[in-house]
Amino acid sequence: MIAVAIDGPAGAGKSTISRTLAGKLGFIYVDTGALYRALGLKFSRLGYDTTLDCDIEDVLKGTKIDICFIDGSQHVMLDGEDVSGDIRTPEASMMASAVSAKPPVRAFLLEMQRDLARRNNVIMDGRDIGTVVLPDAKIKIFLTATPEIRAERRYKELIEKGMGVKYDDILADVIKRDYNDSHREIAPLKPAPDSVIADTSELTFDESVQLLYNIVLEKMD
Ligand code: DC
Repeated sequence: MIAVAIDGPAGAGKSTISRTLAGKLGFIYVDTGALYRALGLKFSRLGYDTTLDCDIEDVLKGTKIDICFIDGSQHVMLDGEDVSGDIRTPEASMMASAVSAKPPVRAFLLEMQRDLARRNNVIMDGRDIGTVVLPDAKIKIFLTATPEIRAERRYKELIEKGMGVKYDDILADVIKRDYNDSHREIAPLKPAPDSVIADTSELTFDESVQLLYNIVLEKMD
């Protein structure tokens, strides 16, 4: 099995680029952020905020996360309910960031991610795929772009979905999430030493896909 690990900060285009790249290569695409988002949703539905003032392990004992693929696209199930739409709000993003800093949450999702890579050729995107989840991945890419460009992309995406958001709020969220994700003690966001850094700030979507496709082909030889 071949694994391509794609890590990087929020809004670098990891999911859209990885999905397209997976289609070109005939691999399955696993969006690991969706798993953290689904767990974040569970905690917020139980009434907890980002302080997560609760017995996390106890909540996890009563939680089931699954993913399935419908027409090639990933759906996340939380306790049997498809929550793929509900996990995409700015609030869900902040809760995902909060839960992802908790060691029991990371342990809860680790084996599930590894198992997917054992059974399939995968492109897996996240924050710690090349460093922790799949340290032996054949190909590791760290995909990044400036915070301003990433905020602008996310802003356009949410506006297109009809959400009433402000650019400045999105930028503040991006900066805050970058800080949280790269300063947490466990599995912080950082490039694996053997990763290729790909900066998409100046690239169009098609150019970014091509760049990654070239990196993958070169490394597969
Ligand atoms: O990629 P995303 O925005 O959907 O990720 C949501 C949150 O989950 C993000 O704040 C960081 C966290 N995350 C993580 O810690 N490790 C991963 N492998 C994927 C996401």
